Amino acid sequence: MSDDSMGESRLRAAVTNSEVSPGDEHRLVLEPTRPRLIRIQARGEEFPILQIQGQLFVCSKANGNCCCGWEEKGRAPVNASLYEAEWERRGLRSRLHLSFTGCLGVCTLGNNALLQILGRSIWLKDLNDDAFIPAIFDYAEAMLQVGQIVPPSPSLKEHVYERFLAPPTGQHLPLIADAVPVTDDLQYVDPVCFMNVDPATARHVAEFQGRTIYFCAPSCKRQFLANPAAFNVG
Ligand code: FES
Repeated sequence: MSDDSMGESRLRAAVTNSEVSPGDEHRLVLEPTRPRLIRIQARGEEFPILQIQGQLFVCSKANGNCCCGWEEKGRAPVNASLYEAEWERRGLRSRLHLSFTGCLGVCTLGNNALLQILGRSIWLKDLNDDAFIPAIFDYAEAMLQVGQIVPPSPSLKEHVYERFLAPPTGQHLPLIADAVPVTDDLQYVDPVCFMNVDPATARHVAEFQGRTIYFCAPSCKRQFLANPAAFNVG
C-alpha cells in the first residue's frame, strides 16, 4: 500500500471513529480542488460563476435577525469585523464565501452560524466568544485541505450539531454523537414557528388528529388551523 493510501485509510478510520485530532486531518493532503468557472443562465443572459467549495453563513444583527448578537436581549455580540478579518487573512475568498445573514431559524441556540462546505451542512451553535471565530476558520481550512468532511476539533465539538435529518441513503457520516431525541415527539415545539413551548403553561392549544398541539401565540394557532396539512404534524 502506498503512503498516500495508507494515510487515507488511517484518516478514514479516524474519521469514522471520530478520533481525528487537530493535526491528523492535515496529514492526508489530496489534490486541492481548484475553483472553476461555469456559465449559468439567468434573466435570459449567460453569466460566468465561480464554483467554490463552501460558504459560511453567520447570523447577524445587521441583517434584521431577532436574537443572535442582540446584547439588549442578553446575547453576546457578533464580531463581524473579526469574521471578516480572519476570512481575509487566510485568503479564503475564492474557496469559502462569507455571508452575514438574518435569522437561521434556531434562535434559542444562538449565536449561530452555518458552514456549508464540500456539500455538507455543518451547524454551529452557542458561538458566544470571539475565540470561536478563528476556530471555525481553522476547521473549514482543515476540511478544504484534505478535501473531505472531518469531525470538529475539540474546541468546537460542543458547538456542532446536526440540524438536518440525515438523507435516507445511509451514506451520512455523523460528525458528532446523535442528539437524544425528545421521546414525546414534537410536543414541545410550536409547529408553525418552531419556538419551544411548554405544554404545562401554553395558552394556545388546538386538537388535531387526536393530538394536542401547542402554540406560542394566537397568530401561529390561526395559521395552523387555516391549513394544518402544511405543518407536517401527522
Ligand atoms: S436570530 Fe440567529 S438564528 Fe434566529
